[in-house]
Parts: sequence; structure tokens; C-alpha cells
Amino acid sequence: MYKLLIRPILFLIDPEKVHHITFSLLRFLGRLGLTSLYKSTFVLEDKALEKEVFGLKFKNPVGLAAGFDKEANLFNELSDFGFGFIEIGTLTPKPQSGNPKKRIFRLKADQALINRMGFNNKGVFDAVDRLKKKHKVIIGGNIGKNKVTPNSEAIKDYLICFDALFPHVDYFVVNVSSPNTPGLRELQDKEPLTALLKELKHENTKIAAAHPDFSEKPILLKIAPDLSDAQLLDIIKIVENTKIDGIIATNTTIAREGLKSSLFLVEEKGGLSGKPVKDRSTEVIRFLAEKSNKAFPIIGVGGIHSAEDAIEKLEAGADLVQLYTGFIYEGPALIKRINKALLAKIK
Ligand SMILES: Cc1cc2nc3c(=O)[nH]c(=O)nc-3n(C[C@H](O)[C@H](O)[C@H](O)COP(=O)(O)O)c2cc1C
Repeated sequence: MYKLLIRPILFLIDPEKVHHITFSLLRFLGRLGLTSLYKSTFVLEDKALEKEVFGLKFKNPVGLAAGFDKEANLFNELSDFGFGFIEIGTLTPKPQSGNPKKRIFRLKADQALINRMGFNNKGVFDAVDRLKKKHKVIIGGNIGKNKVTPNSEAIKDYLICFDALFPHVDYFVVNVSSPNTPGLRELQDKEPLTALLKELKHENTKIAAAHPDFSEKPILLKIAPDLSDAQLLDIIKIVENTKIDGIIATNTTIAREGLKSSLFLVEEKGGLSGKPVKDRSTEVIRFLAEKSNKAFPIIGVGGIHSAEDAIEKLEAGADLVQLYTGFIYEGPALIKRINKALLAKIK
């Protein structure tokens, strides 16, 4: 029904506008307490799907990737589509408007998106207000830096977000891999990255020690699919040295190989997501899992549009998966489809 009836209508409208329209509708249903209208269709609950990863118990291993609910507006309503976890963000300390519109493009022939949003958000403190309400699922907090903050002061921005979100999220994601904030990806280099992660680990220990009700939160690093093998080997060492809890592989790519869409779309600046990033993202997961001897948990994300795509990532070494572009192209039934296929494999 989604692909036949709903998607053709949604795809007539500008992608960012569709996002806002969908959010308004979900918010409206949420306020009336009517999310049960779709919850019963999409949620699949089964003990066999539960999974414990980095000390957290997930209802199922399929999550919503960062960027969809950037400002933590609708994490509970979205969880009623059957997600096992929702990652909010990327949030920055101060509000910022992001890049000028138009900044999301559909590459329909490739089942892909290009976005150059540029961390548009109302700032971490605005999101905290909404995160104070009870969460229905595990919430990850994806954090970044403001565009105006130079890389030499980036640590401060990540610390502000970390401190503000600490009581309200279950795990953290350090995003240094978005292609849409100038210079951000330079923070993936060995020295600045080690310094940033050590500082966050230190803060984690400090907060947990100061508050008897808190314990340390898992910290993950989200990486780009465009890293070389040598850089990925560095990442493995950095995870070992800084003792962070895992990796999210991957963010969007700046590569543009093998696309079928028209050149004027392909040449749009930004990060490419969806089907074209699937194989590279799986390759990164497999590389990290094999070269590290599966030393740390991995969340696999990039181009999951079917149950087979999700299983491929899990078999390559991912412990959990996330989706964004597949959710847009396949609709919410994709989550249940993946969980059903996983159940069929387990049972
Ligand atoms: C419109 C859009 C906005 C995104 N915003 C963020 C973001 O703010 N932070 C982040 O870490 N990833 C962001 N992402 C990347 C996704 O979380 C995901 O890593 C990537 O799209 C690959 O997965 P997919 O092929 O399932 O979309 C964004 C992706 C899209 C399409």
C-alpha cells in the first residue's frame, strides 16, 4: 500500500516539506493518543528478538538512524512503527539553521538521497526539554559541533552536548563523519579523534562518579564510508586505546560512482545515502569486525532496503542495524519485515 499509493503522492512534494508534513501528522495522532492506529500494524514483539548490546537491552535490533528525528520531537511516536531504538540528533550546543534550502534530493532511479542539511537544529537544550518525558524505547543521542566552532575548540561543543543529554539518553554517538559541516571529517584523524574520545570518556566517568543514580553511558563513534583501510585500522586502534564502546558504520558517502540518476542530481553537493551506499557500508562493517577480531559492537547502517540487506549487515559483523533512506523508499512496513525475517532465522 505504501509503495503503491502513499509514496507516489509523497514523492510529488519536496522531501523536506514531506518530512514536516509527516511530523505534523504524527504529532497530531500522538496528541490524540491515536498512534495505536498504526502501532498494531507495525510492531512485532517477541522475546527472541531481544538483544543485549553494550550493556543495553534492545527490544529488537532495528533502529532509526540519526537525522530523521534530529530534534527529538517524536521519538515515542516513531517507536510505534516497531523500531527497537531511536537515535536523535545530530544536536549541536547552539541552534543553527543549516545550509540554505533546497538541501535534500531524491535520486529515485538509484533509490537514494543526497542531503546537505548541515546539522540544522534548535540546539541541544531545546531537545532536552522533550527528552525529559518517558521513553518507550532506547534512545541514542548523536552529538556534533556548531558550524561556527573551529575544530581546535570542537571538544567543548561535544562536551556541552554530552553533559546536557547525559541524564536523558541511553547511549551516545560522536558524529565526526557528516560531510556537510566544513572540516568536520578532519576530526576523524587519529590525534584529534583520540583527544576528543578520551575527553568524553573522562567526562563519562566523572559524571557517573558524581551522581549515585547515574552509571557510565556507552559511547559510540560514527564513521564515514569513505575512510581508507589504513584509516579503518587506525579507528580499530583508537577504539582499543580510548575504550569507547563501539562503532556506527556508516554515515553518508561523498562518492558518486555507478549512479543511474541524471547528472544534475548526481552532482548535488552533500552525502549520498540509500542503496548505492549499501555495499561499501557492509564492507566497512566486515573489515572492522574481521580486523579487530570482533572486539567491539558495531551498528550497521547504510542502504538497508530489505530484510536481506539487514541480515547481510548482521552476518558481516553488525550487532544492530539502523535505517533512514530505506524507511523513506520502503515505508514503515520494512521494520516488521526485517524483524519477521530475523525471527524466522532464529526459530
Ligand atoms: C536527510 C538526512 C539527514 C541525516 N542527518 C544525519 C545527522 O544529523 N547525523 C548523522 O549522524 N547522520 C545523519 N544522516 C545519515 C544517516 O543516519 C545514515 O547514516 C545514512 O543515511 C546511511 O543510512 P541509509 O542509507 O539507511 O540512509 C542523515 C541522512 C539523511 C538522508
